[in-house]
Amino acid sequence: PEPGWTDSVDVVVIGSGVAGLTAALKARELGSVLVVTKDVVASGSTQWAQGGIAAALDPEDSPEEHLQDTLVAGAGLSDPEAVRVLVTEGPEAVHDLIDLGARFDTLADGEISLGREGGHHRNRIAHAGGDATGAEIERALVAAVKRAKDIRIIEHALVLDLLTAADGAIAGVTLHVMGEGQLDGVGAIRARVVILASGGLGQLYAATTNPSVSTGDGMALALRAGAKVRDLEFVQFHPTVLWLGKSAKGQQPLVSEAVRGEGAFLVDHTGKRFMLGQHELADLAPRDIVAKAIMRQMLATGKDHVYLDARHFGDEKWRVRFPTILASCRSHGIDPVRELIPVAPACHYSSGGVRTDLNGETSVPGLYACGEVACTGVHGANRLASNSLLEGLVFARRIAAHLATGLPEQRDPVEDTRTPGLVDADVVPELQRAMTVGAGVIRSAAGLAEAGATIAKLMELPYDEPGTPGWEATNLVTVSAALIAAATVREESRGAHWREDHPDRDDRNWSGSLDLTLPAVRD
Ligand code: SIN
Repeated sequence: PEPGWTDSVDVVVIGSGVAGLTAALKARELGSVLVVTKDVVASGSTQWAQGGIAAALDPEDSPEEHLQDTLVAGAGLSDPEAVRVLVTEGPEAVHDLIDLGARFDTLADGEISLGREGGHHRNRIAHAGGDATGAEIERALVAAVKRAKDIRIIEHALVLDLLTAADGAIAGVTLHVMGEGQLDGVGAIRARVVILASGGLGQLYAATTNPSVSTGDGMALALRAGAKVRDLEFVQFHPTVLWLGKSAKGQQPLVSEAVRGEGAFLVDHTGKRFMLGQHELADLAPRDIVAKAIMRQMLATGKDHVYLDARHFGDEKWRVRFPTILASCRSHGIDPVRELIPVAPACHYSSGGVRTDLNGETSVPGLYACGEVACTGVHGANRLASNSLLEGLVFARRIAAHLATGLPEQRDPVEDTRTPGLVDADVVPELQRAMTVGAGVIRSAAGLAEAGATIAKLMELPYDEPGTPGWEATNLVTVSAALIAAATVREESRGAHWREDHPDRDDRNWSGSLDLTLPAVRD
């Protein structure tokens, strides 16, 4: 659509979770900053994070050990340099967050209380409010952004596309502002730098821990602007989401890995602890291993869930350490103090995303990315638990540090000719079904081809009602096609990518990451 108004700013940040707000707070020292968010500021995934934020904060722990655990979870695909940055800068980034006002749970002696999660050989997960870590971090960041009166925020505004100059570098964004204000409707914002921090793609699947805003927008925008995406096939399924019946769809309640970190264990319908003997860390093995073991168990028994047993915690531990999960279980009629918790895997996190270098810059000059939308190389084939808040924090800081060496000049945008045909929002449930069946936890060439055919058919349906639902559906279709392309090409099983027709990890042919651009996706 033709922009009805124009505006300009030095830096546009798209998204308002831990990555976006950290980037905005740091970048305000360099120039004018605008944060654009699709819903209200605190509506993204950050506020839902339960377990916490991982960092080597214990004197007995070390960044080196955190690095080793991250590399093992990443199953050979993590970039060791990116991981080194994460684990060495992580502790300081967490302390910065504390200085900003975030309150983590502490022990009687005042030290930060550190929990354990899957794949970690040490207690290194800082948490807040028991199991409400993301909410506390988001609260502290939103308060800091509101105190910093020079950061402009536009809520209820969907970024439609990135504007680029004749040489392909970033020149701004086009934006659809819903609501009543000076900037209603579609407009263009010229900018010297755009920072994508728009989160993940959980809504590609029927059941996910992600909120409804996680529709892969940032990845789709970047693809349309010619950016490279990497490792898209590695979609992490969280092993333990509260099972609400066969027909549950949309955002599902998470049962944090920290519950297993405190000693809860998985059992099948006969009460057998099926993780024993599968991995040295048993119930606390890396997430892909636990999710696969649960799926195998479900396939073998014909059941659609397994159980988590945490009855031995007793009432007080449940109330103090896991108040959010306790309330969520009870609101669904399950009392975890007395009953087993029915759980199943659901889509949780995109380990891949828009490829960046160690400064957070993408393959499009002037376009940066951080948080779940980015692929910094940290997560490889499978993200280690509680590394995501940390990654958002550390790489947002690095982007600002890099920009401090000099913001690029404002470019003149060329006319936007890429605007895609919109997709009908009514097709989203069919897309989610196709992705869940064909490109979900268990994949094969045939299943991926079937999902691909469905997505191609949905792309062709004519639709002409420009608005958020149509744009979100368009982005979901674009990202689905890219993900299916990546998952089809990788003929091996590794980390979160499980191909039934290629069940083994194949280091000889597949030890590297896959980069894709939009033409390759379309071909
Ligand atoms: C959890 O609390 O289990 C989620 C932690 C994460 O996804 O890193």
